[in-house]
Amino acid sequence: MADQDAQTPVGIEPPALSVLRWDEPPGGPAVVLLDQTRLPAEEAELVCADVPALVRAIRMLAVRGAPLLGIAGGYGVALAAARGEDVDQAAELLGQARPTAVNLGYGARRVAREYRAAVGSGLVPEAAAVVALAEARALHQEDAAASGRMAQYGLELLAELLPGRGGYRLLTHCNTGALVSGGEGTAFAVVLRAHRGGSLRQLWVDETRPLLQGARLTAYEAGRHGMPFSLLTDNAAGSLFAAGEVDAVIIGADRIAADGSVANKVGSYPLAVLAKYHHVPFLVVAPTTTVDLETVDGTSIVVEQRSATEVTEFTSQPGAPAGGGGGGRAVAPPGTQAYNPAFDITPSELVTAIVTEEGVISPVTGVGLAELCARSSQV
Ligand code: MRU
Repeated sequence: MADQDAQTPVGIEPPALSVLRWDEPPGGPAVVLLDQTRLPAEEAELVCADVPALVRAIRMLAVRGAPLLGIAGGYGVALAAARGEDVDQAAELLGQARPTAVNLGYGARRVAREYRAAVGSGLVPEAAAVVALAEARALHQEDAAASGRMAQYGLELLAELLPGRGGYRLLTHCNTGALVSGGEGTAFAVVLRAHRGGSLRQLWVDETRPLLQGARLTAYEAGRHGMPFSLLTDNAAGSLFAAGEVDAVIIGADRIAADGSVANKVGSYPLAVLAKYHHVPFLVVAPTTTVDLETVDGTSIVVEQRSATEVTEFTSQPGAPAGGGGGGRAVAPPGTQAYNPAFDITPSELVTAIVTEEGVISPVTGVGLAELCARSSQV
């Protein structure tokens, strides 16, 4: 059980979270996930022994966040290969499980490509499956390394943008820590490095309606690390800016289009507008695997629309079937329609900088983004 009162004192590191791992029990291989729908109440594992189980886990947000979805997609294809199943079909199914985070399809296609190449070079399917698993593991490790480099670049950027501060007061939205990554995350990894270096004065955590990734997951991660943090309702951000309590906004991304438009958790765009009005830097931290140069602009990004019940009920089970099947408590009259996009799009002119493992671009331009991606072997 997760103990919410047991925060780690500053200077003592909590054990690393086991968010996603490959397992080979006697019954056959499996992708084992930390079930994020059950946090913070319970640290429970979810065993996905085949691709349909992993697709269900992705749709219900047991595994989520762009970089981790890429890793899950990669291991999912390795799982299909190990089971002797159709690898291309598995990559297709996994890639389509959720539409917005570009990493998901990237991870699945990358591992499928390696499997095909191995078969093409004459390996038997069993040996090609070993190659596929090695590629999924490589993707996992690359993401962990990217996380560390983003943390360093992000911290340097904060020092440059906010000189002479005794400590930073940072506002974040959704969840961008170890729960979305092979390493310590994207935006949250920057915050964590600031915290470890003694330069985090306050982390403001948006609760992130409707599925409460901020309240359930970011507060959980911030608490584990003993950070100074407070949770706020999404609607309270405006008055927090007006009170001068925010030095910078720092978020992740699910897809960055070729023109620098950023798709991230719904509620990110209003924060960018607030940041612009209040002259506060708005920073996006994401690996280059989240940049999609084939999507020309923000309007071309497919935004996932989710179930109305996520808005009309309070539920601890994201993706629960309509009609309260997830045990949610209704907060609207029966039959109420809802608008429930999972993400929104922030245009590049509202983004002060994009931090990647290859460096920082500011101002954010399509040319700058293309040059940065050319330096990365991953895109
Ligand atoms: O719907 P989710 O929980 O998968 O959304 C995740 C987010 O929007 C994150 O902020 C984003 O993936 C960045 S994570 C590095």
